[in-house]
Formats: sequence, C-alpha cells, structure tokens
Amino acid sequence: MSRLAVVCGGSRGIGRAVSRLLATRGCRVAIVSRNEDVAKATVKSLHGADHVALSCDVSKEQDVQKTFEMIQKTCGNISYLVNAAGINRDALLLRIRPEDMLPQLHTNLLGSMLTCRAALRSMLHTEGAAVVNIGSVVGMKGNSGQCVYSASKAGLEGFTRSLAKEVASRNIRVNLLAPGFIHTDMTLGLKEDRARSIPLGRFGEPEEVAQAVLFLLESSYVTGQVLVVDGGLQLAM
Ligand SMILES: NC(=O)c1ccc[n+]([C@@H]2O[C@H](COP(=O)([O-])OP(=O)(O)OC[C@H]3O[C@@H](n4cnc5c(N)ncnc54)[C@H](OP(=O)(O)O)[C@@H]3O)[C@@H](O)[C@H]2O)c1
Repeated sequence: MSRLAVVCGGSRGIGRAVSRLLATRGCRVAIVSRNEDVAKATVKSLHGADHVALSCDVSKEQDVQKTFEMIQKTCGNISYLVNAAGINRDALLLRIRPEDMLPQLHTNLLGSMLTCRAALRSMLHTEGAAVVNIGSVVGMKGNSGQCVYSASKAGLEGFTRSLAKEVASRNIRVNLLAPGFIHTDMTLGLKEDRARSIPLGRFGEPEEVAQAVLFLLESSYVTGQVLVVDGGLQLAM
C-alpha cells in the first residue's frame, strides 16, 4: 500500500518539488492549493497515477475541515503532511496596511495549525506518520521589512515544537524546515545580487529543499527539530 502524502501549497515552488519527489518515492500525493487548475496541472506532471488536486484556502477553517474530510473519504488515512502554503507581503511595520498583515498570519501560521488539526486523527492510524512545516531563516533571525512574515514563521517554530511534544506518544513526528533564499515565484522580484550574502554564493533550488523535507519525513527518530536549508545564509545574518 502506498503512503498518502498531503502537500499544502503543493502546486508551485517548494511544495511542487516536494510533491514530485514524494511521487517518485511511491507516495500517493494530494495537492492542496487555492487555484485548482494549477494544482491539477502539477498532479498531471507527477510520476505514477492516483494523485489528486484539491482547491482549499488553508486560512479558512471550514474550507480546511471540508477538504480533509474529502481526503479521508476518497484517499484514506494520511501518512505525511507537508505545510508549504505560504505568502509574503513585505513592508516596513510603519508602512504595512493591516489588510496585508492578517493574511500572512492566517495563511502561514493559523493555516498550518488548522491543517495539522484536521489531519492528526487520520495520522493516528498510520505507522510512522510525520508532519513537516515550512518555516524560514527569517523566522529565526528576523529581517527588516518582514516583521509580520518573520513573526508568522517564528510562531510556526513554537507551534512545531509544542505539537511534537503533544503527539510524540502517538508516534507522530513534527519538524520544521527553514529555507533561505530559494528560486520560486515568491523570490521572483528579488535581485540575484543578494546571493553575495549567502556563503554558498547562490540561491537554492526547490528540489534541494525537497530532499531535506524527505529526510525529515522518513527519519524515524527525529522530532521537534528545525532543519535549516539556506546555503549557510543564517551564518551571515
Ligand atoms: N522561496 C523562498 O525563498 C522561501 C524561503 C523561506 C521560506 N519559504 C516558505 O516556503 C513555503 C513555500 O514557498 P514558495 O517559495 O514555494 O512559494 P510559491 O512558489 O509562491 O508557492 C506557494 C504555494 O502556496 C499556495 N498557497 C498560498 N496561499 C495559500 C492558501 N491560503 N491556501 C492554500 N494554498 C496556498 C500557492 O498556491 P495558490 O496560490 O494557488 O493557493 C502555492 O502552491 C512558504 O511557506 C514560504 O513562506 C520560501
């Protein structure tokens, strides 16, 4: 029986690379994102059959409940949950509008809490179940112009450690992966000269993050940890 992996934010960027890697490893993948057409296109590109695409806004509680009930009903119990759905709306705190603050907190932080809550019961029934939340080095080090984004990611770190403690006795592991600058739609507007501040001298690729996500999902004695995948960026921050 193949393992069922739910990848929130799996339609593009880091989540798409994770979905592709998990599919090549024989997982059945359920991709969750707001734009169903993009999610469907990604599903089509995955190795193997039986993968599914679902439209869901992870920041909306009822949407998340409905989506995970559907996943349980049509695909069965969840082995892996990867929370890669995220947004950024960068601005100095003095300039940011409240309407740009809440969506970041609701998607990046509350969204991961809601999907974990919706998936946990199902994960109790599978051997070696694991969650990976995608944080950021900015959540650990802070960054000017990213007060709200970094707060959402720092919150995710606390959430990850606490949930790891709550569910360890049920043999569910929960870890956080903190990327640095990765080539995706999210970093399209950034100038490549930023790479000069990265010890390895370049942005990372989504596939390099996906490898590390797979490591966390499969490492049966690792829980409550933060794995930084940033080409050494945080050493220089
Ligand atoms: N790229 C980087 O350098 C970097 C660095 C550190 C951390 N991260 C984090 O890594 C994660 C993935 O980022 P990325 O760079 O891969 O971004 P991306 O290419 O923009 O992809 C974001 C994904 O999240 C989905 N998404 C966004 N809001 C959503 C919502 N409310 N409900 C459901 N799905 C939603 C998007 O699909 P829809 O738009 O269709 O919903 C898309 O699949 C994020 O949490 C980000 O903060 C990225």
